[in-house]
Amino acid sequence: MTPIQRTIIGKKTDNPPIWLMRQAGRYLPEFREIRKKNPDFINLCLNENLSSVITLQPLERFELDAAIIFSDILMLPYGLDQEVKFKKNFGPQLGPLDLNRISKIDEVDFVEKLYPVYKSIKKVSENNLIKNKNLIGFIGAPWTLLVYMINKHSPKKELIKDFFKDEFLINRILKILEKFLKLHIDHQIKNGATIIQIFDSWAGLLKEKDLPNYVYIPTLNLVNYVKSLNIPIICFPRGVKNYKNYCDIVKPDAINIDYNVNPISICKEINIPIQGGLDPKILLTDKENLKKEAKRYLDIFKDHPYIFNLGHGVLPQTEPNMVDYLVKMVKDY
Ligand code: CP3
Repeated sequence: MTPIQRTIIGKKTDNPPIWLMRQAGRYLPEFREIRKKNPDFINLCLNENLSSVITLQPLERFELDAAIIFSDILMLPYGLDQEVKFKKNFGPQLGPLDLNRISKIDEVDFVEKLYPVYKSIKKVSENNLIKNKNLIGFIGAPWTLLVYMINKHSPKKELIKDFFKDEFLINRILKILEKFLKLHIDHQIKNGATIIQIFDSWAGLLKEKDLPNYVYIPTLNLVNYVKSLNIPIICFPRGVKNYKNYCDIVKPDAINIDYNVNPISICKEINIPIQGGLDPKILLTDKENLKKEAKRYLDIFKDHPYIFNLGHGVLPQTEPNMVDYLVKMVKDY
């Protein structure tokens, strides 16, 4: 059993396992080298030779316990034939949402469109670098995908004013997403993903009263699906005010906390394995501060099943030697 799998079933490991969200990305010069020659991000995700190399880049450098497949949560709307573009210094930009068209998407066509993602997973899973480590597959939660599909770009702080206007559309899209997300999970696992993480980056936009309909119920269906396949499921409902409620209802095998969560109180409140928390901005400071802040998380969670990670993705400005320092520090703890 890998250190992450041991931690997820609540067993002790010598030191906490570690991997980082966005561990393969722009902070690595070897990634930027490939990216420069591949200006179209979606096409890069769909190039299984390159995306498998990129997935393994951080494992070539650091003693991490997992790789996360180089892809994006927005490959799903792409697979559903909604246009997705990544604009420099702006982020994702989606095209019009056509319910009629999306309702008619065929499962075989969807899988065919995303096939390179699955081939990339297969390639990575066959590489020696991943031996005794985990390969993390992932999806965006239905709510977060819905936000992008309707809002068309990152909502930053708030949703467009009439977001909830068309309830019929929202409920239809959520149902369609559930069906294709299951298919996407299934193919990732069949090709070698050994853990699934659900990213709900915009869960924090909702009021408590709206969480059951848009977050808890749709996510619970997917969590139960992953459990039925005997694969661990980690959830990251970024920004929710009550992580304990989320865990009690959705019941993931482990929960990733964001950097606004107080680690001391969450450690007392939640009894499932916890992942993450450290503010990625700490990696932009200095080694002494990084050591102090990382040690704080390590100390707080020393008697709790804990997977070291951040409270959001590695920032592009991060120096790779800071990541190196962090990984070594966690391994030596
Ligand atoms: O974590 C990993 O290394 C695995 C790959 C991964 C990416 N995106 C690659 C990526 C994962 C798991 C994601 C998840 C993702 N994508 C989320 C959920 C996590 C979060 O960040 O809240 C969201 C909301 C997206 C949508 C997305 N993709 C945005 C908003 C952006 C633009 C912002 C940015 O950081 O540039 C992306 C682009 C993206 N996805 C990049 C990478 C490496 C940067 C692309 C580039 O090289 O320009």
